[in-house]
Amino acid sequence: MLQVAECFCDSNDYYVRLCDTTVQLLGSGRGALPLQEGWVPVALLLGVPGVAVLRLRHRNGPTATWYFGPDFCFMTHLHDALTPAVRVALREKLPAFPEIEWERYPKLSVDRAIVRPQLTPAAVLPLSVVNERSAGEFDELSRFWRENDYVVVRKALTPEAIAVLTASVTFEDRDSVDDPRQFYRVHNDRSCAKLIAELHVAMHGFYERLFGIALQRTAAFAMRYIQNSDLLPHYDNIFTAISSTICYHSAPNGAQSPLYLDRAKFLNPHQQRLTVKDRVGIPLVNIAKLDLQPGDLAAFRGRTHLHWREAVEGQMDYRAVLAHFADAEYNGKLLAPKFVQGVPRDLVDIDSYQEFREVYASYFERSGQGWV
Ligand SMILES: [Fe+2]
Repeated sequence: MLQVAECFCDSNDYYVRLCDTTVQLLGSGRGALPLQEGWVPVALLLGVPGVAVLRLRHRNGPTATWYFGPDFCFMTHLHDALTPAVRVALREKLPAFPEIEWERYPKLSVDRAIVRPQLTPAAVLPLSVVNERSAGEFDELSRFWRENDYVVVRKALTPEAIAVLTASVTFEDRDSVDDPRQFYRVHNDRSCAKLIAELHVAMHGFYERLFGIALQRTAAFAMRYIQNSDLLPHYDNIFTAISSTICYHSAPNGAQSPLYLDRAKFLNPHQQRLTVKDRVGIPLVNIAKLDLQPGDLAAFRGRTHLHWREAVEGQMDYRAVLAHFADAEYNGKLLAPKFVQGVPRDLVDIDSYQEFREVYASYFERSGQGWV
């Protein structure tokens, strides 16, 4: 049955009340909603398999339609970017689709008096989230980044920021633990999305100084790597040109879960994640090991370089914020990443690294600087 839930705002975040739960509407990767100035979510249409449809209204009157996944995270604002299965489901349930007769569907009845979001107590970031660094140190890190597409910054976070993240970012919603597409990692709870978004904003200038370029923030979220987490080698999707991992907790004390990076440069033609499962096939000479302790940060071009972790076999609790940025530009103007029509948008899985390199040979830079 199709029903419409009204959206409501609390502290600049938007929610819908569904029976006895309150759900926050989130951006892709559980980050902030990608709202432009003047736009407000007003209603969410529920009941179409695989998708929830959001209606937005601009303060000057125009309306817009966005599409959310079953996890209430933003998928796209483009009808053409939906998967064929979702488009079929929408056409079956909504006779006039892509027009949507919003008034035709019953409103989810909710006792407004009890509508209150269930949020964790507000956590506040300290004034200083990153340690101060000299101009010379920044210049050296920037030079390494430009030459290698990756960089490690030791002791990036202040002890105060580490303490707030450790105490306030929770991982109690166990919905992604058994998800192979999330590599059996655990995502942060929705209630912590705001704090992580604030950290992303607070660190924006630090990253621009680190890379020496202007950036746009895309998704940010926290991940907990526990026993059985297994981050297979993969290239990221089009929304995460630059990835960074900020480790803030590791237990037992000194536990390690290094990131590995294939230094070969891939001119990635895919829009979605591409996974190459074959860790052992990657030439050892190509591999950079980025080993982070709490407070350390690693950044890398995740669409250009295959990256992975080893499977966690013993007991481990390794937590990190993953903050992503885009740096696409034309004529000095930053351009938001978006799916391009006509370019395949499927998740791609490949078994053999050797076969991958041979099939995609035209999409790699020639070997250099010690990698093949
Ligand atoms: Fe990645």
